[in-house]
Amino acid sequence: MKYKSSTIKNKWKKTQWLLKDTYFQKYVPHTLPFNQKNLSAMLNDYTSVFFKPTDGSGGKNIIRIRKIDSGYQSQLNTTKTSYSTTAQLYRDLNRFAGSRSYLLQKGIQLAKSNAKPFDIRVMVQKTRQGDWVSTALFTKVGNPNKVATNYNQGGTIGTFSKTMHGANFSSTFTSQLELELKRLGVAVGKNFDRHYKGFHELGLDVAVDSKGKPWILEVNTRPQIYPLKASIDKSLYNKILSYGKHYGRFK
Ligand SMILES: Nc1ncnc2c1ncn2[C@@H]1O[C@H](COP(=O)(O)OP(=O)(O)O)[C@@H](O)[C@H]1O
Ligand SMILES: [Mg+2]
Repeated sequence: MKYKSSTIKNKWKKTQWLLKDTYFQKYVPHTLPFNQKNLSAMLNDYTSVFFKPTDGSGGKNIIRIRKIDSGYQSQLNTTKTSYSTTAQLYRDLNRFAGSRSYLLQKGIQLAKSNAKPFDIRVMVQKTRQGDWVSTALFTKVGNPNKVATNYNQGGTIGTFSKTMHGANFSSTFTSQLELELKRLGVAVGKNFDRHYKGFHELGLDVAVDSKGKPWILEVNTRPQIYPLKASIDKSLYNKILSYGKHYGRFK
């Protein structure tokens, strides 16, 4: 963890960086700070809303809220709770948050590969010359009973093309998406450089909805790669380390 690359934990700040650039607007799901007014507004507009700690990581303390016939249902890990009004839901979320800042984000219906929801990690790294390169693309395949696909939440690492195939996307569509995501990664790198100094790598979490549309869920400034080491894609792990050498990333 001691390698040289800046860290920004605040997801709200990073989302604002992206939204200042019109290029990213269609990729960023509607996101607002958590408060009662914003909760009501988001639940008016969307059937599913994610409640996430502004400085969170590892898929921890994320609650998915869904509209159901009798009101709303929240899910934390595998635990579901029902509410009949937004006021009751708000009270519980507020108690859960305590003094910690939270965000609300439009829920994306993740595409499923062999019945398991997944999202994509786009690893972007800066060369010694200062150019951003999307060096690796892999998937995080989630446990269908959980709300987050993270490795720490029981997710597994998958190969991009195999996971896309398992979700019934054609190989033509998959190659086009690969190009689009790699371009997106480079564009995010350039955007982040305009807002803060010292980034050498970034990891985009990109959801693909059931129609195949990509959505940036977050941009990690300290992306973990150890789960890749033991996966089928050891070659990707080695590629990331070869690009990471010049800024001191050795694992
Ligand atoms: N808006 C959303 N729609 C659908 N799934 C989401 C959404 N936000 C988060 N998730 C799920 O939760 C996981 C963790 O969310 P993320 O924003 O990446 O936070 P963390 O920093 O904890 O990894 C995502 O990889 C995804 O599986
Ligand atoms: Mg994440």
